[in-house]
Amino acid sequence: MDKRAIGVFDSGMGGLTAVKRLIEVLPGEDIIYLGDTGRVPYGGRSRETIIEYSRQDIAFLRSFDIKCIVAACGTVSTVALEAIENDYPIPIYGVAGMAAKAAAKATRNGRIGLIGTKASIGSGAYNRLILAELPEAEVIGRACPLFVPLVENGRVGVDDEVLRLVAEDYLEPIKRAGVDTLIMGCTHYPIIRAMIGRVMGDNVTLIDPGGETAVYVSERLKNAGMLSGCTKGERRYYVTDSPDGFGEMARLFLGSGDAYDISQVTINNF
Ligand code: DGL
Repeated sequence: MDKRAIGVFDSGMGGLTAVKRLIEVLPGEDIIYLGDTGRVPYGGRSRETIIEYSRQDIAFLRSFDIKCIVAACGTVSTVALEAIENDYPIPIYGVAGMAAKAAAKATRNGRIGLIGTKASIGSGAYNRLILAELPEAEVIGRACPLFVPLVENGRVGVDDEVLRLVAEDYLEPIKRAGVDTLIMGCTHYPIIRAMIGRVMGDNVTLIDPGGETAVYVSERLKNAGMLSGCTKGERRYYVTDSPDGFGEMARLFLGSGDAYDISQVTINNF
């Protein structure tokens, strides 16, 4: 048994897609979440900056007693993680590997669509991971830089006209390429899953990296005998900008049953 919490971080609220699934599969675990809302988006920044921000996010989470970290950010997972993960004494799970595995398993025609931030797509990491799983796969990738700011500003409804126009512009070429599977390679994207699904159509399987990774982490902890043994865990949320809007969105994405414990942190102290 291990009563330490699980640390989760993202550039903003996208990592809540991983938290949602973690709570479903591991209801007894304590979770400490950091959304770097003061510096979101990461996806248009340089590798050096993404590494520096990731190190600060990890340092903040490590100021608590935690047993592992989920880097619930496609950008951090593809751009920074390989360079820094071995510098820490606890495991840090990225979201790209499990998404690639799930896509390779789901595809029937070998044509896999991939959407993500500019930095994630530019890193080529998703492509490498998919091809390692399925060498004959054809990956049709596209950066979708407007999705993260739209989500962070609450433009997430399936009836949102601005979101629809942007989604059609980004996704229709991928759809025309005949993919049967689409990796939503940034953890913000499952929040607009309904719109992505509407544009791509019912025959395309959508892969949620945070959700896949949450299930993987739960299996790792179970197999290692590292679950908390509690029935209901506590969750604490930290943001690097004002918590006001985040609380509202957290309620929307995680459900309204819980009272949310949200605080602001000065990330430059870490
Ligand atoms: N949720 C982050 C990701 O998965 C958003 C990246 C960003 O901040 O641009 O990539």
